[in-house]
Amino acid sequence: QATPVAATPPMGWNSWNYFAEKVTDADVRAAADAMVASGMRDAGYVYVNIDDGWQGQRDANGVIHSNARFPDMKALADYVHARGLKLGIYSSPGPKTCAGYAGSLGHEKQDAKTYAEWGVDYLKYDLCSFGELMKSTAPSNPEQQMRMMHEAYATMRTALNEAGRPIVYSLCQYGVDAVWEWAADPKVGANLWRTTGDIAPHGEFVYAIATMQAGLANYAGPGHWNDPDMLEVGNGDLTEAENRTHFSWWAMLAAPLLAGNDLAHMKPEVKAVLTRREVIAIDQDPLGKQGTRAYTDGEVEVWTKPLSHGGLAVAVFNVGDTRYAGTHPFRLDLKRLGLHGKQQGTDLWTGNAVTLDDHQVVGLASHDVWLVRIDAPHTAG
Ligand code: GLA
Repeated sequence: QATPVAATPPMGWNSWNYFAEKVTDADVRAAADAMVASGMRDAGYVYVNIDDGWQGQRDANGVIHSNARFPDMKALADYVHARGLKLGIYSSPGPKTCAGYAGSLGHEKQDAKTYAEWGVDYLKYDLCSFGELMKSTAPSNPEQQMRMMHEAYATMRTALNEAGRPIVYSLCQYGVDAVWEWAADPKVGANLWRTTGDIAPHGEFVYAIATMQAGLANYAGPGHWNDPDMLEVGNGDLTEAENRTHFSWWAMLAAPLLAGNDLAHMKPEVKAVLTRREVIAIDQDPLGKQGTRAYTDGEVEVWTKPLSHGGLAVAVFNVGDTRYAGTHPFRLDLKRLGLHGKQQGTDLWTGNAVTLDDHQVVGLASHDVWLVRIDAPHTAG
């Protein structure tokens, strides 16, 4: 039986996208402090997740210890909990993690118990070397490989349940199998699962990953979410428009919102994106419906997301280099969204009230987004 966590997509921070395997105890504490000071905690962020790179050696009894960069995991968990936040950790079902640290193979129960004793609330479990193990064990038998993988993920789920602490279970597995078809199965009990390869802090990666989520909406819902990877908002060469687009798209996808930047040193405009409550509310809407692509028109993507109380979020993404304005506007076809006649909405980035007419003109800079919430959409007449 899966623990009742992640009723809405998990929100928090993860060390990997910025710190990678050099992450330290001090970095994690600084992230927790910044999550509070920046207002992110009050906006809904909860999990402070350590990714790959914390692991040290197993002792003579097989118990895993953290490495020198993490002198005391229990104390770190206490520090995070004292701020009203939760701690996440990372491992692999294989002998080694993706960055070559100790994995949990053969030590699942022991590791789950250790995590629970430390006070861990979230586990990202990354296939990594288990993929090679599957292939070498059953070289020409893909079905057996799949069975091995399902079992490996189910083994850790059982171990987490037995450890007696509610722990969000995040599967990191991609490129092998349609993970969304089996990850929410009660035996595996995943709360989220990666649907694509690793994100990178460039617009093209963000758009490519976002568009790959089209068609996966029916697999997501309260307690079990598609995970298009952690946020790159504030990282790399993403512009302000791209940060807004990235964040809006993840919200439309009901994706986990795990910031991946250096929270202690973020610019005000990055903080403004990550704490935009009107956009977070789209992601966290209690109905838990992932948005879908309504249509594409050239380099413009139009997505909608049903909200609780009959509302609808509409997002228009300009992923191309064209600027739509003045003599060259983009016209939104409301009929293709199932809408008829004038609609009253709110522009979620400016906060302005907007009236949408049929063939609404939308001005959009390159790589920018127009995100609107319609509380009472007119669908007929
Ligand atoms: C994989 C995952 C990343 C990160 C690294 C850590 O690449 O997809 O998100 O966890 O491993 O080594």
